[in-house]
Amino acid sequence: MAKTSVASGMTREQSGSKSSSERLKRVGEEADVFWEGLLQEHRNGEHGNNDTMIQHLLTLQQSQPQLYTDRIIKGLIQDMILAGTNTTVLTMEWVLSALLNHPEILKKVKDEIDNHIGKDRLLD
Ligand code: HEM
Repeated sequence: MAKTSVASGMTREQSGSKSSSERLKRVGEEADVFWEGLLQEHRNGEHGNNDTMIQHLLTLQQSQPQLYTDRIIKGLIQDMILAGTNTTVLTMEWVLSALLNHPEILKKVKDEIDNHIGKDRLLD
């Protein structure tokens, strides 16, 4: 019997959709193109900043090419971005909502930022 999608009740053929593993593979391939571009930008010096994680990994690649392959570097970039994005976003969201629910603490935070950073520049 043909497999049906839980959400629609249609077979995969009927809905024209692809299996999860096929979609995952496509997302992986698209992401790889993106990381590859990022790597080439750094390799060609088009990025402007030499003090980046990718730049340091590319420098290590020159002395230890067997360890720091393009594939490993792309994996590390992906790991950092995936591990570091949603965790940080959610933490900030929770911090801000907790502060909004505790105006007296919010005031302390604002005062501390004003004292250390002032009002004429952004946090770097
Ligand atoms: C609020 C922020 C974050 C939380 C709550 C969080 C939480 C965690 C937890 C629970 C683990 C698993 C640790 C273990 O069981 O061994 C982990 C691993 C990891 N996290 Fe985070 N993380 C946060 C932010 C980040 C950021 C900003 C980055 C990178 C830019 C990052 C990169 C990683 C990596 C690479 C690992 C795997 C480490 C390993 O096993 O070698 N995380 N994180």
